[in-house]
Amino acid sequence: MGRRSVTKKLVLWSVLVVQLCLIGCIWLLQVDYSQDRNTLGQTSSRVNFVTSRDGEGKISPDKGSSGGDIHCPRRQDNVNRYEADFYRMKPAALNETHPPDYNVPAYVDAEMGLTANLWCYREGTLNESRQINYVDYLMVSPHCDCASGWHGRDCGQPEIIWRALMTHSGASKRSGTTPIQLVEASSGYLHRLFYMLDLGAWEHISLELLELQIQSLLDVVDYFLIYYVSNTTKQRNLKNILGSQTNYVLLQCSSAAKCTSSLAYSYFRRQLWLQCSVQMQAQDLLLHGDSQTVFAPAALKYLKYYARDVLPLRFRVKYNVYGLFWQHPNKTLLSGVISSLGHMHSVHADISRLQRQAGSPLGDLNHYGGWSCEFCLPPEQIILRLQSSPHQQSAVRLPNDTRNAHIDATYIQQLIGNGVHMDSFTQLLRLREQSEKYFAPKEALQHSSRYGQLLVNLYDVDVLEDLQDED
Ligand SMILES: *[C@@H]1O[C@H](CO)[C@@H](O)[C@H](O)[C@H]1NC(C)=O
Ligand SMILES: *[C@@H]1O[C@H](CO)[C@@H](O)[C@H](O)[C@H]1NC(C)=O
Ligand SMILES: *[C@@H]1O[C@H](CO)[C@@H](O)[C@H](O)[C@H]1NC(C)=O
Ligand SMILES: *[C@@H]1O[C@H](CO)[C@@H](O)[C@H](O)[C@H]1NC(C)=O
Ligand SMILES: *[C@@H]1O[C@H](CO)[C@@H](O)[C@H](O)[C@H]1NC(C)=O
Repeated sequence: MGRRSVTKKLVLWSVLVVQLCLIGCIWLLQVDYSQDRNTLGQTSSRVNFVTSRDGEGKISPDKGSSGGDIHCPRRQDNVNRYEADFYRMKPAALNETHPPDYNVPAYVDAEMGLTANLWCYREGTLNESRQINYVDYLMVSPHCDCASGWHGRDCGQPEIIWRALMTHSGASKRSGTTPIQLVEASSGYLHRLFYMLDLGAWEHISLELLELQIQSLLDVVDYFLIYYVSNTTKQRNLKNILGSQTNYVLLQCSSAAKCTSSLAYSYFRRQLWLQCSVQMQAQDLLLHGDSQTVFAPAALKYLKYYARDVLPLRFRVKYNVYGLFWQHPNKTLLSGVISSLGHMHSVHADISRLQRQAGSPLGDLNHYGGWSCEFCLPPEQIILRLQSSPHQQSAVRLPNDTRNAHIDATYIQQLIGNGVHMDSFTQLLRLREQSEKYFAPKEALQHSSRYGQLLVNLYDVDVLEDLQDED
């Protein structure tokens, strides 16, 4: 018997040992992984992810042709965000509003205890010092005092969302879908927002408009993902505009073919993971826009707090031409798209497909989801842009009433001054800051000197006449 059974035993033992080793290894791996995950979720200042100074070496995605920059100094800090955006309404002192002889029903006392936790959205609330008193409880369930243009019990719902939901409540009865599934805002639940900004050719963008686009959303966007086409050296002004406290990934492509939304998206995703340990997740929000559009922050912030799942939604934005002082007679146009990332994946990050899937837009003829500014460039830059894209040139008519008709800076200045569209016949509508409710994004009005060219028509004949009259 001896040798055979000894070999058998040996084999069995070694199999057992190997199995134990495997189990041990798997366990160790899992422990490691879950530790990783835990630290990912925390808002520790453990590591400061400032990677490249000037995109040296290791970041460059495909050698020579394109380049990028990654900057992620600040991590998500949801809890503190909530406390900054919402405040808790205090119950009034008892002896003030509630004289001893007044008999308060038991349920009021109970509710008083429950809703001692009434949180109001700061931006939408009228009077932060107002207190809850007993009359509130007797009348209706207590709610915050909303400023005009804000809705809901906690005043967190801006006008354009409210309207979109109203419009949709009719439509969804038929189709059975809602574009936005809502939840109540809470401190533990705040979506991350990724803003994918497609600037197109760098030489045709307006730096002023770019700054406005970014500054308007600085508090709302968690990661800026900006891509543009340029074959010259890296654009430093972009980094200056973004500042040192902003999370961003930049992608410079040498040609438009390399800057499709899907290529850019997969680049951003990979870099966020590799350089910032940020994993994009299905419930995160993705906003996509072009170089012309400035989105209004209110609706975006709302979706971050209150939406569970967002089907693709487009924005109805104000249609400005040359500056915020002229409006196209069509008034608005559809622009941009926002959705939960899950839906982005199902179209393979193809933005035009995502846009085609979009249902009713955010914003309407009177309440815009943002501002689109067409040809908001200095006259010389407009000419360069027309020359470089034959497709746009066809929309431009040469003035045939001049002897040697050609498009030069003077001609463009006349168009801007008189409010005539590039097609040389569409008359634009004149807008005035005093009489226009949504004249410009808040950021532009607050820092009007920084955005002068967008706010003031330098070539306006009327302005010149006004000035002459004053003299
Ligand atoms: C309410 O009562 C407390 C003591 O019960 C008293 O200190 C306080 O001054 C009273 N407040 C008002 C507004 O009467
Ligand atoms: C805000 O509420 C406080 C307390 O109820 C009240 O005294 C004050 O007059 C209110 N202010 C405005 C502007 O309504
Ligand atoms: C850079 O791009 C411009 C047009 O955007 C083009 O005319 C030029 O030839 C390009 N230069 C190089 C070196 O590729
Ligand atoms: C303006 O609206 C009309 C009708 O809706 C449309 O045919 C036209 O293309 C629009 N023009 C622009 C420049 O958007
Ligand atoms: C400009 O051209 C249009 C059509 O091409 C013509 O109807 C119009 O009379 C011309 N204007 C002048 C001033 O020649």
